Amino acid sequence: AEVGSLAGCRVLVTAGPTHEPLDPVRYLANRSSGQQGFAIASALADAGANVLLVSGPVSLSPPAGVKYLVCETAREMYALVMESGQFDVAVCTAAVADWRPAHEAGQKIKKIGEADVAPPLTLVPNPDILAELSTKSAGRPKLVIGFAAETENVIDHAKAKRERKGCDWIVANDVSPHTGVMGGQDNQVVLITSDNVEQWPRMSKADVAKQIVERITVWISEER
Ligand code: C5P
Repeated sequence: AEVGSLAGCRVLVTAGPTHEPLDPVRYLANRSSGQQGFAIASALADAGANVLLVSGPVSLSPPAGVKYLVCETAREMYALVMESGQFDVAVCTAAVADWRPAHEAGQKIKKIGEADVAPPLTLVPNPDILAELSTKSAGRPKLVIGFAAETENVIDHAKAKRERKGCDWIVANDVSPHTGVMGGQDNQVVLITSDNVEQWPRMSKADVAKQIVERITVWISEER
């Protein structure tokens, strides 16, 4: 995208995994590294956008020129996003945990005696940030982009997800272990819009980010 092509555009990017505590020392998490989301935030800032990056726990430094907020759980991420006002565009790359342990023990859960019976693990659903943003009655971002990490039937699942969540575009990818996408440098995505399914070649996450920002720029310029 041309330098400054997104000047004045307010963009939200969510990134990273979330950590859902079981007790003070244990949590449920996933393998998201945050790299794709950070790369998108960086490319958006390069294009002149006013970027808020909200991330779960990652070992990355925030890109220059981006407003950065960190959180741990899905509920914290949801609160930060909802408290941050309105956006023209939202790019939800975060691998938000769909569920969290129903109870967070105040103290470390202990083994009891020699019987060693495993404690039950009950899960409850987390708020869905993408779905909430997509269906906001007032102040919905003009363009809401979701990500879909799948391990099978990538396109069908992602199309269904686009409709279910109410977002405008879905960027779908296969995160099966053999692809090396989760935690790796490269990505291979499919961009799904209301009327198109585009398979992109495998490329670096930085290049995927640039291409997505290019598409956002075109969309915004047609909208203006
Ligand atoms: O349903 P699933 O988690 O696979 O959907 C993925 C998309 O939804 C991603 O864009 C992700 O950032 C978003 N999402 C979210 N909040 C959740 C779950 C998913 O924003 N609680």
